[in-house]
Amino acid sequence: MDELFDITGKVSVITGGAGILCSEMARALGKRGSKIAILDLNEKQAKAIADEITSHGGTAIAVGTNVLDKKSLEKARDVVLESFGKVDILINGAGGNKKEATTNEAFEFFDIPADAIQWVFNLNLLGTVLTTQVFGEVMAKRGEGVVINMSSMNSFCPLTRIVAYSAAKAAVNNFTQWMAVHFNLNYSKNIRVNAIAPGFFLTNQNRFLLTDEATGEPTQRGKQIMDHTPMGRYGIPEDLIGTLIWLVSDASKFVNGTVVPIDGGFAAYSGV
Ligand SMILES: NC(=O)c1ccc[n+]([C@@H]2O[C@H](COP(=O)([O-])OP(=O)(O)OC[C@H]3O[C@@H](n4cnc5c(N)ncnc54)[C@H](O)[C@@H]3O)[C@@H](O)[C@H]2O)c1
Repeated sequence: MDELFDITGKVSVITGGAGILCSEMARALGKRGSKIAILDLNEKQAKAIADEITSHGGTAIAVGTNVLDKKSLEKARDVVLESFGKVDILINGAGGNKKEATTNEAFEFFDIPADAIQWVFNLNLLGTVLTTQVFGEVMAKRGEGVVINMSSMNSFCPLTRIVAYSAAKAAVNNFTQWMAVHFNLNYSKNIRVNAIAPGFFLTNQNRFLLTDEATGEPTQRGKQIMDHTPMGRYGIPEDLIGTLIWLVSDASKFVNGTVVPIDGGFAAYSGV
């Protein structure tokens, strides 16, 4: 393997690693010789992914973790350090949207309950911040590490309907920059923080918006997205892997505080 992209022996902690996008990241990193710790609320699914990686000759553990509970994160950190002795890579993947924070013809912005907005901000922003506190401290003490946050294309230019999710991911971008600077100015020049912004990937969090639940046909919104994506398709989880390996390896060692779009050209297209 090209030395620039080599991640053999690096320890990767992946929150939300049982989910659609981040389980693919876990598999890809595991395949390249990284030791994987999958931290997820869904312990059973996390274990299934860890077992899959192990069965293919990789090294992986699953740790049931709630990214909104600092004690749970600290416990997970202890398990990771006991198992692997260090943390090189942190991927803050746990995130998502919910129906109750999403407007539609029958459900107006004016009626969105505060707790639904809070839920979305907690999961996407607070979960990323708390996890970076717990694992970032380990990196700060050792003086090296790489953090990847999961943002979204709607963080740059908000999409209709998903008011809280757009704002929460915009906050994740801001936090990515803030944290990159904070690590470098206060702890080490060898810690980097970047984010990946996937465009439209058909997954559990948006399936209800993009395909009709009854017929499986694309919704009006799904059609609009396709019409606006020059590459003419939704992303698949594998589309994230090249950028991920670049960002966690020495290939990007002077790349810091950035948000990298992976959107099939969606943001570049004016529609005309
Ligand atoms: N799917 C998309 O099109 C898309 C686009 C842009 C960004 N993203 C972002 O990418 C990331 C992964 O998305 P996905 O589509 O794979 O989601 P997913 O729903 O498949 O996976 C999310 C995972 O996070 C876990 N999780 C939820 N709450 C948690 C908590 N409190 N503590 C620990 N784990 C928790 C879930 O159990 C799940 O395994 C998210 O941050 C999402 O916002 C997704």
